[in-house]
Amino acid sequence: MIRRRLGQSDLELPVIVLGAWAIGGWQWGGSDDEAAVRAIQAGIDAGMNAVDTAPVYGFGHSEEVVGRAIAGRRKDVLLLTKVGLRWDDPRGEFYFKSQDQNGKPREIWRNAKPDSVVVEVEQSLARMRTNHIDLVQIHWPDPTTPIEETMGALAGLVKQGKVRAIGVSNFNPAQLKEAQLALAPLPLASNQPKYSLVARDIEARILPFSRELGIGTIVYSPLEQGLLSGKVPAARTFPETDGRHKRATFQAPVRARVNALLEQEVRPIAQRHKATLAQTVLAWTTGQPGVTCAIAGARTPEQARENAGAGSLVLSGEELATIRLAFERLDLSGTR
Ligand SMILES: NC(=O)c1ccc[n+]([C@@H]2O[C@H](COP(=O)([O-])OP(=O)(O)OC[C@H]3O[C@@H](n4cnc5c(N)ncnc54)[C@H](OP(=O)(O)O)[C@@H]3O)[C@@H](O)[C@H]2O)c1
Repeated sequence: MIRRRLGQSDLELPVIVLGAWAIGGWQWGGSDDEAAVRAIQAGIDAGMNAVDTAPVYGFGHSEEVVGRAIAGRRKDVLLLTKVGLRWDDPRGEFYFKSQDQNGKPREIWRNAKPDSVVVEVEQSLARMRTNHIDLVQIHWPDPTTPIEETMGALAGLVKQGKVRAIGVSNFNPAQLKEAQLALAPLPLASNQPKYSLVARDIEARILPFSRELGIGTIVYSPLEQGLLSGKVPAARTFPETDGRHKRATFQAPVRARVNALLEQEVRPIAQRHKATLAQTVLAWTTGQPGVTCAIAGARTPEQARENAGAGSLVLSGEELATIRLAFERLDLSGTR
């Protein structure tokens, strides 16, 4: 597993991080806790010893499952979680309505108030049964709370030894700059934006800006929720409680086009490396300038092991370019 330093922090992350959103069940049509625990453990055994979760993933459930999975091996694992999306403290900016994995109505608020983030970190520590979190990230910007105030509270948690490093997620360049200035002399370790072969918006401004500022980038949804694994046939159906049921990139004609492209253009490169399509797509993602690591979600040990295998795969410049060009030709009309 290749490892990289995260921005100016002292965290060394595996290039493939295990994503624990789906493990919470919410927006993913439920989940199987036993399989999830085994998936996390299989990932750690394969060198993917960092897990990204959030309080809102399953309304605490994902963090609890992560806590179960790492019991007895905390020192071998890096825990990345978030603050700033509350369902139990309706202050800040209303974000959206949802139903939890048990069908209970929930309202999500962007709330990064200083007292709220302190409470959230305490709750995350308890759910994951640990005394420190390696990276705490502000999940989404809260326009009602000055970034400086949130950062002041998080810096206090670093001083207390409860948090090792601070990052953000879904921040634009101006917000990144503000966050970095507010935290100094502590480094802003990272931003966590969405990025994949079918969602390359951050290449224009956010990635170059983060590189210039020395901020690490941990990208999410690199497999476009499984689509880019080549294992989602056009015929597969998703329950209404799975966000992919309505997701534009999961429309059957798009899936068919993506699968054909993966077979024609990516399969020969994968075969050359004795790798799978998912591994090759993940290696493409972590091979892009400015990307520190990619968070791949997994719900089964097989997926976790496969994704971890991408962490030692390095594609040549020519292979990276071939895959990029192929996806630039992909017709994604109607999906945005
Ligand atoms: N900061 C944010 O706002 C934000 C937003 C989204 C995600 N994230 C983070 O990023 C992580 C990853 O993003 P994501 O879950 O959206 O997308 P992803 O990693 O692109 O896709 C994960 C899903 O793809 C399928 N999959 C994964 N590996 C596979 C494999 N080897 N073969 C076949 N299918 C495979 C699984 O779906 P099935 O088992 O259901 O088929 C899995 O649940 C999340 O868990 C979360 O930690 C953060």
